[in-house]
Amino acid sequence: MMKQEIDTLLQETLDRLARLEDAQELEKLRIEVLGRKGEIARLFKQLGASPAEERPTLGKLLNEARLRLENAFQEAKLQTGAASPRVSGLDISLPGRLPYLGHLHPITKVSMEITEIFQRLGFEVVEGPDVELDYYNFEALNIPKDHPARDMQDTFYVTENIVLRTHTSPIQVRVMEKQPPPVRIIAPGKAYRCDSDMTHTPMFHQVEGLVVDKDVSFGDLKGVLTIFVHQMFGQDVDLRFRPSFFPFTEPSAEVDIRCVICRGEGCRVCSETGWLEILGSGMVDPEVFKMVGYDPEEVTGYAFGMGIERIAMLKYGINDLRLFFDNDLRFLEQF
Ligand code: PHE
Repeated sequence: MMKQEIDTLLQETLDRLARLEDAQELEKLRIEVLGRKGEIARLFKQLGASPAEERPTLGKLLNEARLRLENAFQEAKLQTGAASPRVSGLDISLPGRLPYLGHLHPITKVSMEITEIFQRLGFEVVEGPDVELDYYNFEALNIPKDHPARDMQDTFYVTENIVLRTHTSPIQVRVMEKQPPPVRIIAPGKAYRCDSDMTHTPMFHQVEGLVVDKDVSFGDLKGVLTIFVHQMFGQDVDLRFRPSFFPFTEPSAEVDIRCVICRGEGCRVCSETGWLEILGSGMVDPEVFKMVGYDPEEVTGYAFGMGIERIAMLKYGINDLRLFFDNDLRFLEQF
């Protein structure tokens, strides 16, 4: 009986529909039932062959079934997301949330910035070990056994002959031992001193520089460091070379820049002097050349070393060194 057939088709299709989730299968089923050659179409054809007196009732029934199915398919389609980009209440057309990207630590950034300035000037980047022989950290740098820089309070001794390097200067010696002149290197890295307060941490960072060649002069040192200061802090920042002492350079000079806080008026940061010390430098001491087998009659050179934290503090106006090591995201995210 045709009425039976219509009822069964309607019921079965609705059942199958309820179980479908995939948009493609939904479309397949729709074509199977409502398509031009589908079940409904077949039943309409059959309608023509049915007894004339039953035709109006059956026709009405069939039309109602088709309408119900069409609506049911429309609804199912909306639910699977085939009609609009909605997947069970999720709007997949919304722009996605970007994954959280970390960023470089300010010390890493400043370190890279310093090295890049010197790389542009033709310096090559090298590294050395953090755990260093006493020989490279002190002796070869003309720092004798009884020198105050070797004080137990400053130096972390691993054994009697092994220390955590107290500066990046031992890298100078290692480079010169390995290669003949000319040398033009920059060496960033960690340094360690047993010290902790507002302006000292037991671990900190330095960048070492060394140039050795025939006829390298103090003028070359001044020129290169002046370019560095201007690129790092700005063309309008004044600097001065102040006589100083290091066991491994002679003559030695410290470089000060005009206080970035008070612009030279005098304030607490610069201890009312108007100047801030940013690095140590000097002409390589002939004693050091002798230790590595360079002939001080043949070559001359200059070296410099600076604290990266100090440069970063002055560049960004940070007053407490320890902020760099607290790992507070509220601080770190500002860079
Ligand atoms: N190593 C010195 C320090 O840590 C800095 C320095 C390096 C000075 C090279 C002169 C030449 O204070």
